[in-house]
Amino acid sequence: MSERKSIHGEWSSRLAFFFAATGSAVGLGNIWKFPYIAGDNGGGAFIIVYLACVVLIGLPILIAEVTLGRRGRESPVNTLRSLALDEGRSRAWVGVGFIGMVSGIIILSFYSVVAGWSLDYLLLSLRGAYAGASADRVSRLFAGLTGNPWRQMLWFTLFLAVSLWFSARGVRAGLERAARIMMPALFVLLLLLVAYALIVGNAADAFAYLFKPDFSRLNGQVLLVAMGHSFFTLSLGIGAMMVYGAYMPNGVSIFRVSVWVAAADTGIALLAGLAIFPLVFAKGLAPAQGPGLIFTTLPLAFGAMPLGSLFGAAFFALLVLAAWTSAVSMIEPTVAWLEERGVGRVRSTLAVGAVVWLLGMVMDFSFNIWSGVAWQGRSLFELFNFVSSDIMLPLGGFLIALFTGWMVSERSLRRELGVSRPLLRLWLLVLRYVTPVGVLLIFLNALGLIRGAL
Ligand code: TRP
Repeated sequence: MSERKSIHGEWSSRLAFFFAATGSAVGLGNIWKFPYIAGDNGGGAFIIVYLACVVLIGLPILIAEVTLGRRGRESPVNTLRSLALDEGRSRAWVGVGFIGMVSGIIILSFYSVVAGWSLDYLLLSLRGAYAGASADRVSRLFAGLTGNPWRQMLWFTLFLAVSLWFSARGVRAGLERAARIMMPALFVLLLLLVAYALIVGNAADAFAYLFKPDFSRLNGQVLLVAMGHSFFTLSLGIGAMMVYGAYMPNGVSIFRVSVWVAAADTGIALLAGLAIFPLVFAKGLAPAQGPGLIFTTLPLAFGAMPLGSLFGAAFFALLVLAAWTSAVSMIEPTVAWLEERGVGRVRSTLAVGAVVWLLGMVMDFSFNIWSGVAWQGRSLFELFNFVSSDIMLPLGGFLIALFTGWMVSERSLRRELGVSRPLLRLWLLVLRYVTPVGVLLIFLNALGLIRGAL
């Protein structure tokens, strides 16, 4: 057990931690990103690789982050500093905390823009804007939004402002309360949407698509995306789960609750697939539409269904709720760090929010006035998304696995985790060898450095 105390307060119970951590994990990653990358990468085979990455790479790192956090009980930077000191290791490990803070801020900048689209679409749904619309009209609807920097700015600013409000209110009154209200609502909405999709949509094709693997579609790039997503969807690699662990009461089994969080996150991603693909297939639409799947293909499907505008509104409300409880976790490492340096919570949140907002404007403009700016065929938005999710998160996770597996003594870990020795050994084995080697191989392969191996 940790002898330290958090100056930021603690979650009020084990269930509160579960809600907050699941709230962080379940987000646009599950409902917007997972369906479209599964669609782009061939469905079932991608999903199997993704599940393997969650179990072999994601879950062990999730447990590691929460364990480090609860031992250190501070922001990731300061937690890593005190643990490195305890264990007689180099202070340079705090660098992992700093990289994480930067990644979190970058991710939130494009995340807010996508969440802003969802707010706009919530309104569009309620107005029946895509009811009975043609494919052409629906794509023009989306282009009209992304092409208008001010409309986009309005919505992403609104989304960000609400997230910052929850952050500013602190651990219990802000983060915990948001998750306690929003997560059950999200779950109910999702179940309703799945039931609706299975009734009015094409359930058979959706099941076949999601669960019948076509292995010929696998390659190094697919592996990289699946691994990157296993980090993204579990909120790993930036210290978000670490700082959530710092607020976890002593005596809660880290192992057990982490397994629950990973299971809930995966379950919700699959349910999101079942809410979306039956509708897509019912209209004979293509699943591989990239990031626009949710904003062009899906409205087209909803628009042609009975009560489509109503269920469409429920869908976009679901996205917004999921995004709020995730957004707060992306900046928590930085907010907590600033607070530990003596800046008040409200000011810390505002300072971080200002930086996110400025970067968010860059993301906003990347769709319109700066849409010509590209690097290696990627727009600024795609570049931010790729560099943060597919490079910085796995790198952060890799370093966290190495730190936990090789730098922290087994005794300290055992004291914190309180699990049986065989289980601890198994986890350490995975963390020391399987996770780092897996990340490395996938990286090298994607960079084309080990040719033909995969
Ligand atoms: N997991 C969230 C999602 O799937 C996104 C998220 C929240 C995140 N916190 C994070 C991603 C920290 C990476 C790092 O939408």
